Amino acid sequence: MSKYITTPIYYVNGEAHIGHAYTTFIADTTARYERLKGNKTLFLTGTDEHGQKIEESAQKNAKPTQEFADEISATFKNLWDEFEISYSKFIRTTDKDHMVGVQKAFVKMLEKDDIYKDFYEGHYCVSCETFFPETQLVDGEFCPDCGRTTSIVKEESYFFRLSKYEDKLLQHYKENPDFIMPRSRANEITNFVKGGLHDLSVTRTSFTWGVKMPKSLHDDKHVIYVWLDALLNYITALGYGDDEADMNFWPASTHFVGKDILRFHAIYWPAFLMSLDLPLPKTIGAHGWWTRDGEKMSKSKGNVVSPKEVSDAYGVENLRYFMLREVPFGQDGDFSQRALIDRINSELSNDLGNLLNRIIGMSGKYSAYEIDSTDVAKYHTQELDAIDKVLDSLDHYMSEIQIHRYLEELWKLFSIGNAAITEHEPWVKIKDNETDKALATVALVANILAKAAIMLSPIMPKTTTTIANALNFEINNKSYNELVVNKKLLKLFNIKKVPPLFPRVEAPLMQEVLQAEANSSKVEKKSSKKKEKFESAANFGENLIEIGDFFETSLKVGTVLEAENVPKSKKLLKLKVSLGVNDTRQIVAGIRESYSAESLVETQVCVVANLKPTKLMGIMSEGMLLAAKDEDGLSLIRPEKPKKAGTLIG
Ligand code: MSP
Repeated sequence: MSKYITTPIYYVNGEAHIGHAYTTFIADTTARYERLKGNKTLFLTGTDEHGQKIEESAQKNAKPTQEFADEISATFKNLWDEFEISYSKFIRTTDKDHMVGVQKAFVKMLEKDDIYKDFYEGHYCVSCETFFPETQLVDGEFCPDCGRTTSIVKEESYFFRLSKYEDKLLQHYKENPDFIMPRSRANEITNFVKGGLHDLSVTRTSFTWGVKMPKSLHDDKHVIYVWLDALLNYITALGYGDDEADMNFWPASTHFVGKDILRFHAIYWPAFLMSLDLPLPKTIGAHGWWTRDGEKMSKSKGNVVSPKEVSDAYGVENLRYFMLREVPFGQDGDFSQRALIDRINSELSNDLGNLLNRIIGMSGKYSAYEIDSTDVAKYHTQELDAIDKVLDSLDHYMSEIQIHRYLEELWKLFSIGNAAITEHEPWVKIKDNETDKALATVALVANILAKAAIMLSPIMPKTTTTIANALNFEINNKSYNELVVNKKLLKLFNIKKVPPLFPRVEAPLMQEVLQAEANSSKVEKKSSKKKEKFESAANFGENLIEIGDFFETSLKVGTVLEAENVPKSKKLLKLKVSLGVNDTRQIVAGIRESYSAESLVETQVCVVANLKPTKLMGIMSEGMLLAAKDEDGLSLIRPEKPKKAGTLIG
């Protein structure tokens, strides 16, 4: 079977951050998993290089646009190469064959009468490269997606008849429940389409950095809209409009995207494909956002986490493991060094690393590093059944893109291994002259490690190769079929010693992120003092502070007087909160998914009272509520008994 996996193509207006790395890790893991299963897999990534946003970024950097695009595109490619991302092709939308393919697709849509010429006047968000109808703007001015100010643009434009595809799209969603994953997101798309689709402006005349109109149309003042150009990369990469060399990989198995660009992939892209008479991708997998301290990462806030820095400090495979294990696909996740260190120390070092060390140690002591599996089935049927059950469950989780559950399940193998050692105490058996029983337990665990390494290899390819070397076997489709599908045991192991794979991390390793952590907790400190503080931060990734630092944050009990939904936002509520006599604050809080406006009125909350006011969706917010969020959702932190509004916490 052939598989086609894609990442979004990344805008070349800035270097990669961990959000980009996350999409790429998921796609890489999926591609490696398919290859392990023996499926011929094409994995595409690349860069999106046209449009006003890129043109403006190049100008800001005082560089010719192409040169700027070349440079940033290379930073993405180099980073993926350094991370050993197993892409089959890296496409750039400035590639000549891509641009020719886009022009051909445009002509085909025009010939089908799916594209017509008219005028467009509307509110345009440069950052999102999208027009929005007035009804969708926040406060008649701000972009409903990113909150930035929009501007009014009037242009002659070609339009794609998106409205024509409304019914066909709805029918497709209905008949293909796996088209949008997680399935919970399908409703939002269906409702959007049911709300009525406007025809889509697919050319621009206000700038020139884009794919030119096909010459045959004699209309060179237009360039093709960046999203039409960009989405077509998924087929031009296969040779659409050119040699069609890899079109047999179409339709794509999964387009991985962030939730912010799901609409483009689940509405526009299928409509374009219908117009081109091409089949639709099987799945659009939309993941959530990575935030820092609950906030979107942005350069201006100085809270962007660089994947290169994290990987330099902790290793790229530890980062991959962390990101894929930490967050259920589709949900948002918060990056913190502490959470990363916890997973390295407890799951990688304790559960997996120690088990490998114990097997290397025991095999050396008891059997000169040779392990024979002959007696495993005689003494360990129960464990073998449990192992098979875990292995049988894994494929389901991967096909549902529930990689965190896949890993959670996989880790049960290490529990089985550790429990077997604790229960059967091979060292006691050796003393009691029951050597065959002792060696059977060691062989059981060696087999667990081998099977687990195979299944972990799509997530941690290098580390698992080291494990396989230590156990003296190879991870490939053959060993996958034998040890995982057919549940066989490796007959003989010839163990090699390897240094510990996951040394424990005793203190945070990234100063710069610590700095951002301190900044974002609004603790203003002189930098020399900060340095001192970081150097003394020794335990479990905690950033230790002095008591005085804590008291610089003013925490107060507040009483909610009024609450209402922020229009056009799913997450935000606008509250009036009393912090005592003459101190009533307007606070915008992202808690609507967990609390309705009505349920909050006349309840108490805890408020950070000395944050600098900031605007959210154009609305002033004068404080922040304390809340705790885990996988079950968000919960406000409140005083146990009612307290006077304005009472200090501390
Ligand atoms: N160029 C378009 C995609 C065109 S695909 C035909 C684009 N580029 S992007 O560089 O802005 O974003 C690329 C991907 O990174 C998107 O899937 C987006 O969701 C993801 N992320 C950007 N910031 C992110 C986080 N903070 N967290 C997780 N992913 C985020 O959109």
